Amino acid sequence: MTITTMAARGTVVFPENFIWGAATASYQIEGAVKEEGRGQSIWDTFSHTPGKVFEGHTGDVACDHYHRYRDDVALMKELNLGAYRFSVAWPRVQPDGQGAVNPAGLAFYDRLVDELLEHEIDPYVTLYHWDLPQALEDRGGWTDRDTAYRFADYARAVYDKLGDRVRNWATLNEPWVSAFLGYGNGVHAPGRTDAAESFKAGHHLLLAHGLAAQALRAQGAEQIMLVVNASPVMTPAQVHDPAAEASEADAEAVRRVDALLQGQFLEPALRGRYPEEVLRARSLQGGLDHILDGDLETINQPIDLIGINYYNPTVVEAGPGTPADAAWPGSQDVRFSPADAPTTAMGWPIVPSGLSRLLVRLSRDYPEVGLMITENGAAFDDVVVDGRVHDPGRQSYLEGHLGAVHHAIQQGADVRGYLVWSLLDNFEWAFGYDKRFGIVHVDYESLVRTPKDSALWYKQVIGANGW
Ligand code: FCB
Repeated sequence: MTITTMAARGTVVFPENFIWGAATASYQIEGAVKEEGRGQSIWDTFSHTPGKVFEGHTGDVACDHYHRYRDDVALMKELNLGAYRFSVAWPRVQPDGQGAVNPAGLAFYDRLVDELLEHEIDPYVTLYHWDLPQALEDRGGWTDRDTAYRFADYARAVYDKLGDRVRNWATLNEPWVSAFLGYGNGVHAPGRTDAAESFKAGHHLLLAHGLAAQALRAQGAEQIMLVVNASPVMTPAQVHDPAAEASEADAEAVRRVDALLQGQFLEPALRGRYPEEVLRARSLQGGLDHILDGDLETINQPIDLIGINYYNPTVVEAGPGTPADAAWPGSQDVRFSPADAPTTAMGWPIVPSGLSRLLVRLSRDYPEVGLMITENGAAFDDVVVDGRVHDPGRQSYLEGHLGAVHHAIQQGADVRGYLVWSLLDNFEWAFGYDKRFGIVHVDYESLVRTPKDSALWYKQVIGANGW
């Protein structure tokens, strides 16, 4: 890889073949929840349950991408995107999560892939971005071991249909979030709140990843990845000074939270073991009986890439007597702290250097796999004025984080590409349509798409392979 930095012009140039694109997820954009045999997902149930999502918003219509995908692909082309990451809705393919496939549901993704390829946009398929078939949740969802085997069958069915044209496959999106927001603090579907169950769900998600990776590989998949919500864990002082000394108690808090977030998923997937801190936390919450002999071997499949979704760092310090956060079983005596940094509309601190640190470290710890930024972006309160959306905050967020990616590459991190979250404003889970992450604005009344200034800037960056 050759990196050129023309400092005199302040220009940043990315490696040749660097992949530029955008990401979305099925439930957040598709709508058409009852069409062509789609079954119900846990997010349909959850969003229709009063009090779960901001102002009762649901994904029933969302961006209506199911019907407008052709225009959306044309828009991607217009914006110079070379790659598009989308997810397949499991309940479109298997309405009950198992058994015969629904050809009409699969046909949608077949059309989408063809449309992308016609526009020379490389598809990145995520098999699971949180819309579990409700029928499987009724049998225990991710707390039921059988769900992992059902997922592998589903992965096989999708590969059968798309594998002749799709080269890039992600098994799961952010298993930490599925397990700990879905079954721990209950902020996401299915909304369960039980520490032991959340650990169990995490293990079964990993098993699902391993089984699906095995199945995809056996069928000939070229690139397989696991997508994680990675975030560097640090003390408040380390936000601006990575070398800042931490007391032994603070350092222990950092290590433990890092193990719960990163190690819990990456170590089993890439090294076939759970970190000590995670085993300890689990044995205090329901025990380890759900980890069967041979599971870690199954989970530890060779993969090609780690997909990194980065938004902000995780800032912690020792907090004696603090009870564990419901999303973080095992985090007792840890205080989660705000970072001293400006924030996005989500209240998330903007710390681009966190991304460089993360990438350099992951490339060092797992040198055998490449890294891909599968999500990075920001919500701001955008408004359309005279047909334009001025979003300097987002543009500067993206520029800062792309700069951080470039910096990490210069330090030796093997980063292959960058997919902005998100192509479109969309259904932001528990926040409904209240938070806008798109580089393209969506008017939810008319469904009209308007590229924001950040999209026009991104288009130029892609065209120049930097700035
Ligand atoms: C990630 C999710 C994605 C989106 C962004 C903002 O955790 O994968 O669907 O909600 O956050």
